[in-house]
Amino acid sequence: MTSVVRIFDTPDELFDAAAALFVRTARGAVDAAGSFAVALAGGSTPMRLYARLAAPDGPAAGAPWARTHFFWGDERHVPPDHPESNYGMAFEAMLRHLPVASPQVHRIKGELPDADAAAADYEQELRRCFTLASGRWPRLDLVLLGLGADGHTASLFPGTPALDEHARLAVATTVPNVGAARITLTAPVLNGAARVVFLVEGTGKADAVAAVLQGPQEPDRWPAQLIQPKDGELVWLLDAAAAGKLSHPML
Ligand code: 6PG
Repeated sequence: MTSVVRIFDTPDELFDAAAALFVRTARGAVDAAGSFAVALAGGSTPMRLYARLAAPDGPAAGAPWARTHFFWGDERHVPPDHPESNYGMAFEAMLRHLPVASPQVHRIKGELPDADAAAADYEQELRRCFTLASGRWPRLDLVLLGLGADGHTASLFPGTPALDEHARLAVATTVPNVGAARITLTAPVLNGAARVVFLVEGTGKADAVAAVLQGPQEPDRWPAQLIQPKDGELVWLLDAAAAGKLSHPML
C-alpha cells in the first residue's frame, strides 16, 4: 500500500483536486481495462465534488462516463427518493446531469423492508458485476470515503460488529445511539480497491483526522484506521481546517 496526505488551504482547492483525481483515475481505468468502477461516498462533504463533476464545462468534461459504473460505499435504510438517501444525493448533485444509463448505476436498495436483505441483494449485485467466484473480492478502481467526527467511514461505526466482518461484501448495521439502520460495504471490499480517497474538510473533523492518522492503532474506536488498501493507494484530501490538529511532520 502507498499512502499520501494532501492538505489544501481551502475547501474549494480540495474539491478541485478531488475532481481532477477522480477524472484521472477514471481515464486510467478505462485506458487499462475499458471500464471504471467507483464507489461513491455519502453524507454532505462529497456534494461539492459531485457538483464539479456534473458541471458541463467543468473538470470532467469529456470524462469516460459511458464506461463508468457507479456503486456506493454505504446507504441509509431508506427509499431512493428519501432526503437521507446517499443515492438520492448523488443523483441530484451529479448523476441526473451525466450521460449515464441506468445499467451503469448500481445503487443499494435501501427501500427493501429488511436491511439484511438489502445487504444480501447488494452483495449479489457486486458478485454479478465483477463476476466473482465465492471467496473472491471485487476490485473497485476508486472508492470515495468521508470521515465522521467519531472516526467512522462508510457505515463502519465504532464498536459495531460490521468492523469484524471478513466474509461478506456488504452487511446491515445501525448507527450507535441512534439506531438508524444502514447498509455498508465491509472493510475487505474497501481495502480491495485500487485507490481509496478520503475527502475531509472542516474543523469539526480535525480531532478525528489526527486520531486516525497519528493516534495509536485502535480501529474499533477509530474505524477509518481499518482502511488500508492491500494492493492500492490510500489518499487523504484535507483542507487546512480538518488538518489543523496534525503534528507538523505530516504536513
Ligand atoms: C454517510 C457516509 C458517512 C459520511 C460521514 C461524513 O452515509 O453519511 O457514508 O460515512 O461520509 O458521516 O459525513 P459528512 O460528509 O456529512 O460530514
